[in-house]
Amino acid sequence: MVAVAILAAGRGTRMKSDLPKVLHQVGGRSLVERVLESCYLLNPSRKLVIVGYEAQRVQRSLHQVNSLEFVEQKEQLGTGHAIQQLLPSLKDFAGDLLVLNGDVPLLRPETLENLLRSHQVYRNAATLLTAHLPNPRGYGRVFCDDNDLVRQIVEDRDCNAAQKQNHRINGGIYCFNWPQLAAVLPKLSSNNDQGEYYLTDVVKHLSPVMAVDVKDYFEISGINDRKQLAIANDILQNRIKDYWMVKGVTMVDPDSITIEDTVELQPDVVIEPQSHLRGNTVIGKGSVIGPGTLIENSKIAENVTIRYSVVIDSKVASGCRVGPYTHLRGQTQVGNSSRIGNFVEIKNSIVGKKTNVAHLSYLGDAKLGEQVNIGAGTITANYDGVQKHPTIIGSGTKTGANSVFVAPVTLGENVTVAAGSVVTNDVPNQALVIARERQRIIKDWKMNIKKKNQ
Ligand code: UD1
Ligand code: CA
Repeated sequence: MVAVAILAAGRGTRMKSDLPKVLHQVGGRSLVERVLESCYLLNPSRKLVIVGYEAQRVQRSLHQVNSLEFVEQKEQLGTGHAIQQLLPSLKDFAGDLLVLNGDVPLLRPETLENLLRSHQVYRNAATLLTAHLPNPRGYGRVFCDDNDLVRQIVEDRDCNAAQKQNHRINGGIYCFNWPQLAAVLPKLSSNNDQGEYYLTDVVKHLSPVMAVDVKDYFEISGINDRKQLAIANDILQNRIKDYWMVKGVTMVDPDSITIEDTVELQPDVVIEPQSHLRGNTVIGKGSVIGPGTLIENSKIAENVTIRYSVVIDSKVASGCRVGPYTHLRGQTQVGNSSRIGNFVEIKNSIVGKKTNVAHLSYLGDAKLGEQVNIGAGTITANYDGVQKHPTIIGSGTKTGANSVFVAPVTLGENVTVAAGSVVTNDVPNQALVIARERQRIIKDWKMNIKKKNQ
């Protein structure tokens, strides 16, 4: 049986932030969420999160994760003290405990699986993940004998000059035989530079303790400050982009593109510079996204082009051309082969296929049929100051430039709307609607100018 415990009680002083460190985000999810996700292959029977600084806030942020147990560490007296808080909760637990620092967001699930396997195969009292870092500053140094058996872990700040030359570092990820760990936890002391109870000191009391090197040392990057947070973001981005490029996605200037790991891309998608794909976004085969486009929680079908635009919580069907400077949001759905153009905002609307909304429009709470042509500057006045109202526009209808539809209002099919109309009443099929003052011409009219001093 395996239980998992995540250390998430520290404030993270070096972040210089009001937000607890473990709630800072990498690629759209918090550090602690990512650490939790990395454990999924182990199928742990219990998941414990040790909280302290802003405990409520950390707890609330994880409300969607099933069956978590929160254990409070009221004062943050060190990582060893944090694990001591588990003694009551795990009193009757007899399996292995995987301990993870809450600030190590780039772990691969397979790495944890391997760690657990080594731990169990060798029947170790403890097994920890280590790496050889080119720049080990800030990390605890791990001293082993020739068989990877750990003799000592010394924190960076407690190291003497000679010890600092050791580049093998502690990743902050450990498997323990819980009953053996539980027996030695009370022996920890705070006799070190920080006056804290270090979890790493238990290795002095346990045997055998084995170090297992992680192949890709980026995985165990710990986040202590904003610089490391930015570096972790970069590492994650490179992983995600490499993955999709191997699967047949073209990226023009990948460094200027960001893609969250929740996004799905099909082959022959092209992503142009300065584009950002977030949340549950799917992009279909052959679509070209960008330059300069943000897409969040949206489904884009095949062979769509979206340039310099923002698409949030919406769906765009195949063959559409969107942008430049289009904003689709609020569950908007655009049908096949439609064209949504310059400076157009569409909210919570359904646009039928082969429909054009090409220039300078706002459509809110609208339903458009097929092959509708929305003239430049057409606006739905959907809000009366209290409530939102729908506008329905039938197939084949053409709206003149600068028309306003005062909702609720319905236009039938094949209606023609004269330019500049303010339409307040429903219009039947095939009709022409002119809803504006008729032009008047006053002939031979001269401005009546009063001459001064006359
Ligand atoms: C720790 C390790 C170090 C290792 C590094 C890897 C110790 C003593 N040192 O150092 O050997 O190289 O991680 O990243 O363990 N926390 C609590 N309660 C506390 C203190 C900390 O829950 O009282 C949590 C923090 O929220 C954080 C994690 O433990 O998620 C690690 O704490 P941190 O202060 O970042 O430890 P490091 O100095 O990085
Ligand atoms: Ca750390």
